[in-house]
Amino acid sequence: MTADASQTAPDQVTITIRPNGPLLIQGDVKVLNGAGEVVERGGRVAFCRCGQSNTKPFCDASHKTVGFQAS
Ligand code: FES
Repeated sequence: MTADASQTAPDQVTITIRPNGPLLIQGDVKVLNGAGEVVERGGRVAFCRCGQSNTKPFCDASHKTVGFQAS
């Protein structure tokens, strides 16, 4: 198998599991909805892990209010 010179490796994306908090994605991030439309893009996106966010799938810090404890 030979390398395809027309393709470049994607920029590195880091996903951090925040203690008792969201999944923090850092890098060149683009979030698409089910229709393939961009709903968020940027260098830092947090996804709710507690299920209590009013802006799902994104974290709105409700995990702090509800005292979310990751198992
Ligand atoms: S993890 Fe932050 S609101 Fe759910």
